[in-house]
Amino acid sequence: MRSYLSVKAACLALLQGVNALDLAKLRQFGEMAESGFYPDGTPMHSPEVMFSLTSAAPPPPPGESEEIVAEYVELPLNHFGKKGSSDGTFYNRFWVSTDAYKPGAPIFLYDVGEANGANYVDSRLRRNVTTTNAFRGMVDKYQGIGIVWEHRYYGNSTPGNVPISVDTKPEVFKWLNTEQSLKDIVVFAEKFSRPNINYTLTPAKTPWVMIGGSYPAMRTAFMRDQYPETIFAGFASSAPTEAKVDMSVYFEPIARGMERYGAGNCSKDLHAAITYIDKELGKGGKAAAAIKQQFLGAGAEKNTHATFADALASVFGYWQSYGLDGSPWSLGDLCNHIETDPVSAKVAGKDGWAKSKGAKFAVDRWSTWEPFVGVVNDFMQTTCSGDKNVTAECNLDLPFTDPASVSWTWQYCTQWGYFQSANLGPNQLVSKYNSLTHQRDICHRQFPTAKAPLLPEWPQTDRTNAVFGGWDIRPSQLYWSGGEFDPWRTLSPLSAEPWAPKPKAFTKAPKCGEEQDEDEIFGYVLKNAQHCYDFRTTVALGETSRNFFYKALDGWLKCFKPKKGGH
Ligand SMILES: *[C@@H]1O[C@H](CO)[C@@H](O)[C@H](O)[C@H]1NC(C)=O
Ligand SMILES: *[C@@H]1O[C@H](CO)[C@@H](O)[C@H](O)[C@H]1NC(C)=O
Ligand SMILES: *[C@@H]1O[C@H](CO)[C@@H](O)[C@H](O)[C@H]1NC(C)=O
Ligand SMILES: *[C@@H]1O[C@H](CO)[C@@H](O)[C@H](O)[C@H]1NC(C)=O
Repeated sequence: MRSYLSVKAACLALLQGVNALDLAKLRQFGEMAESGFYPDGTPMHSPEVMFSLTSAAPPPPPGESEEIVAEYVELPLNHFGKKGSSDGTFYNRFWVSTDAYKPGAPIFLYDVGEANGANYVDSRLRRNVTTTNAFRGMVDKYQGIGIVWEHRYYGNSTPGNVPISVDTKPEVFKWLNTEQSLKDIVVFAEKFSRPNINYTLTPAKTPWVMIGGSYPAMRTAFMRDQYPETIFAGFASSAPTEAKVDMSVYFEPIARGMERYGAGNCSKDLHAAITYIDKELGKGGKAAAAIKQQFLGAGAEKNTHATFADALASVFGYWQSYGLDGSPWSLGDLCNHIETDPVSAKVAGKDGWAKSKGAKFAVDRWSTWEPFVGVVNDFMQTTCSGDKNVTAECNLDLPFTDPASVSWTWQYCTQWGYFQSANLGPNQLVSKYNSLTHQRDICHRQFPTAKAPLLPEWPQTDRTNAVFGGWDIRPSQLYWSGGEFDPWRTLSPLSAEPWAPKPKAFTKAPKCGEEQDEDEIFGYVLKNAQHCYDFRTTVALGETSRNFFYKALDGWLKCFKPKKGGH
């Protein structure tokens, strides 16, 4: 095993999902990327860029630097119970920075979403840390207060302060849903004050601005839609607000993006390889066992076709945060390996190799890519040998153990869907054995004792869209953004899929309180970008995108009228 694996483990102690494309896990890459690092902890940018970021940041105030500690607010587990009854409370964690604050300025709430909030505090609030995330700069620009908000059932914001684990009983998750977690913010904001600030900071007197990327962006949009009295304005980057069980379309922007980024030959070869592998698996018996062993070594043949399909799909796990990049185990590295003939050292033309040399050539190149087994072992928390002569455990069918992945699995399996099954058709990149039924089985594998209606047979996406409005909501004072090749854009209002509503996006700041019709949206799609790229200070179009938001926010803030009464 090569040493990069231990480096990686050291840098990403938290990284332990199982589902190859589990969102909670992918968000951990997102966080590394937004902070300026590859998954192995190496900087994505030259020392000069990192230095310029440090020197461009405002210096810490003279004397002591601000102390930011975890704080907790007590909240009801059930906000919607019968009046007078109680289902108990829990403590929700948050962090606050006030050292840029001038009285009257807004509060910026950074929503962490489906992850442990502690991992976001340095890069979002602290000044003594070099970061390429834009949030600190946003707070400083408006001389506001910055809050990092943890979602219920993540990190330390858990019922009874008992950590979530693979053994958490399904009944515990009864109060984990998006409705409850939105109301948490309402109750928190109503109570918010600072001992060192003599100014009323609740939404009645201070504008609250919510910032989120991905699921937190959905939450930002829903807060602005359902609780406009709490959240005055919002920035929703890459928000797949439409719940949908079948998200096989996830892989389409990857195929399109590979073409755009000069790896169209590779997507063609991966497609040919997958078609070939599906045929071998379909034969069953020795042929199926041989193909599994070829990729993962002896022991791999015990796995089902479906979980083997998950293992193959793990090579796409870096795409949404890094595109083709992402250090030695990136999709780009795999492509360089596949497209280089080991005998002649020639690189394939635009058609790839399968067309001239046959699909088996592409399969063999993929299976000999050295990092592959390590990537699978890391994503799926297993120990495949990668060697046909060495039998290993290599179990690809384990439930998730990472606490955030456990909680997120509950959320998508009950409410949101997003099942990333095979994108059958001309761009197919993952095995057809990764079916919707397999994705459903992953939900029930995770919570084997959970029964309907607590855990429904399938995610209740129709109900979810009826509650939240899906991709048709257009609240006022909200800015939407997306990345051209972000797999999550497909279920956002900025989706360009043939079956999406496709409203016309515009970037001229709307007036205060101005809502758009369904056929228009205040939003922007960053070209040649993936997931939440506009939260990175190092992405040129990120600044373009943020400026659309700032320009609008400048106007909206002028309309903020503190409520009369109180103090
Ligand atoms: C930044 O400051 C905080 C609080 O003073 C401290 O706990 C932390 O270790 C510092 N981090 C770095 C990288 O210096
Ligand atoms: C807070 O500000 C108000 C209004 O400016 C003032 O009357 C009051 O004395 C202040 N209180 C404290 C504790 O400084
Ligand atoms: C083929 O793929 C390789 C590796 O991704 C890439 O470097 C090369 O530019 C591609 N060639 C063409 C003609 O697209
Ligand atoms: C596996 O064992 C066979 C037969 O002993 C041998 O020829 C082959 O080189 C071995 N393969 C590896 C990768 O060690």
